Amino acid sequence: MKNAAVLVHGGAGTGAGDAAGAGRRRRGCLAAARGGWRVLEAGGSAVEAAEAAVVILEDDPEFNAGTGSVLNRDGGVETDAAIMDGATLAAGAIGAVQGIRNPIRLARAVMEESPHVLLVTEGALAFARSRGFDLVDPQSLVVPARRERWEQSHGTVGAVVRDRGGELAAATSTGGIFGKLPGRVGDTPLIGCGTYADGVAAVSATGVGEAIIRLTLARLAAFAVERGATAQEAADQAIARLGVSGLGEAGVIVIAATGEPGFAYNSSALARAGITAAGEFVAV
Ligand code: GLY
Repeated sequence: MKNAAVLVHGGAGTGAGDAAGAGRRRRGCLAAARGGWRVLEAGGSAVEAAEAAVVILEDDPEFNAGTGSVLNRDGGVETDAAIMDGATLAAGAIGAVQGIRNPIRLARAVMEESPHVLLVTEGALAFARSRGFDLVDPQSLVVPARRERWEQSHGTVGAVVRDRGGELAAATSTGGIFGKLPGRVGDTPLIGCGTYADGVAAVSATGVGEAIIRLTLARLAAFAVERGATAQEAADQAIARLGVSGLGEAGVIVIAATGEPGFAYNSSALARAGITAAGEFVAV
């Protein structure tokens, strides 16, 4: 699969924790990248592969998305997610939604089965019911043993994909930031902030949403590729801009239309894995 590529992240965070936790994040990121790659091998699209990779990360309680999401100020779980098809600029997103096990699937349904880009809270749930989604007890997404480890850190998950037809997609999902106010929506479901894909690049961000939103970080990175930067240069430039702003910590993963991957972060760690024709890589 020449030039096909899958790159995933399991969040920018402190990198702190025991070796066992690092091992779990490493295995989780690799499993997600391999899941996305298998979809491409089977002839699937970039959107299908990005969704599949993010579902694997949402189902892994090690990460702050879907099951394992952090708690808001009131002890509840409210999730955000977005997916974008670079070939068509179609996008779907959900914000501050409770009781959806795989928010990225609902984001994709918004993209493909509604005339809208972003649905939030009760309206998103009503849409989910109308599309046949099973709603779960929001507390079933809480994993106490994981929760403590992720306090104060940012464990958003995401995937960017270039399929064998050359099309790009980005998908991102998160429980947000620990202790957030109920109703807070971060960068993840805001197109151009935490998630973006077009014909030249696909980008997924992680980190402090309030910083990422102010810089429209994902679009900033994609625009750098549009202006001739490599994926790695674009990731570096976006994170350098964030550093200059002093607004906060974040990480981005980028795939260019060439299939070449890039990543950068100004947090102390970025859990990530990727697969290209050249092989696999993983780091946490
Ligand atoms: N980057 C995830 C959030 O701030 O919600």
